[in-house]
Amino acid sequence: MNPAKVLQKEEIAPGIFLMNLETPRVAAKAQAGQFFVLRVDDKGERIPLTIADFNRKEGQIVTVFQVVGRTTAKLADLKVGDELATLVGPLGKPTEISQFGFTVLIGGGVGVAALYPILREFKKAGNFTYTIQGARSKEFLIWEEKLLAYSDKLILTTDDGSKGRKGVVTDPLKEVLEKEKVDLVFAVGPSMMMKFVSEITREYGVKTVVSLNPIMVDATGMCGACRVEVGGKTYFGCVDGPDFDGHQVNWELLLARQRMYCDEEEIARKNNA
Ligand SMILES: Cc1cc2nc3c(=O)[nH]c(=O)nc-3n(C[C@H](O)[C@H](O)[C@H](O)COP(=O)(O)OP(=O)(O)OC[C@H]3O[C@@H](n4cnc5c(N)ncnc54)[C@H](O)[C@@H]3O)c2cc1C
Ligand code: FES
Repeated sequence: MNPAKVLQKEEIAPGIFLMNLETPRVAAKAQAGQFFVLRVDDKGERIPLTIADFNRKEGQIVTVFQVVGRTTAKLADLKVGDELATLVGPLGKPTEISQFGFTVLIGGGVGVAALYPILREFKKAGNFTYTIQGARSKEFLIWEEKLLAYSDKLILTTDDGSKGRKGVVTDPLKEVLEKEKVDLVFAVGPSMMMKFVSEITREYGVKTVVSLNPIMVDATGMCGACRVEVGGKTYFGCVDGPDFDGHQVNWELLLARQRMYCDEEEIARKNNA
């Protein structure tokens, strides 16, 4: 088990927290696209979070999480100096990094933090990086400067038009697909967003990779909780993913499975269990 101490905690947007964790063995091996699983305390459930940044020399990883239920609320209550009960990682296959050419990288909501290390590696590999960041409104647009540092072009969209373009990420996506010869699209964010991105890019025949977030329990490929159907075959998100071909994902099944424990999650939240 890896010790993991909270070095920094900051609310960077309403209900969205950045946490810097000291966990040298995980930091030493971390690569873009990977995640870890933590338990806040001995009685707590295990939840997966993406490694949004890492510093191998300092032995630190950064995660950015949104408070959506019981465990993320408990995590947000931790203070600098506290230790997590357990942290296992890095898990999952790293994102494939290569010189693809003209790439469009799309991050929705808190998914932007997961996109950041992938964008950085895409840029370092010599790709043209056209980044689209979407959020509900301007206060939820996180890490704009960090994205700018590695984006040849950065387009912001907000649902309410409070910053950037009014609308959703698929609007500028359609425009760039009309104008440019795009070689690869990478999307991470809400499943519904990734589904719509994949539907649009399919029309243009542009390869699309999505980072899925199915419900996970053990994250070792043993329990089957994170089952996803891709190209008619069953895969486990935790060991075969989280990245998959967006055109091959069975989105209806994924969305249905993500809603599977809604009632239990609501009870846990209410009971503080
Ligand atoms: C590979 C991966 C990477 C992720 N990275 C991030 C991240 O960087 N930042 C972030 O904010 N969130 C991330 N998530 C989602 C995060 O794991 C869930 O928000 C968290 O588990 C919710 O736990 P909870 O007890 O607070 O809420 P709950 O009340 O348990 O659930 C609230 C919502 O989270 C979903 N969820 C619950 N348990 C899990 C689980 N074990 N795995 C996946 N989803 C679950 C539920 O479907 C529900 O929609 C990631 C998920 C996966 C699979
Ligand atoms: S979470 Fe159990 S097999 Fe993936």
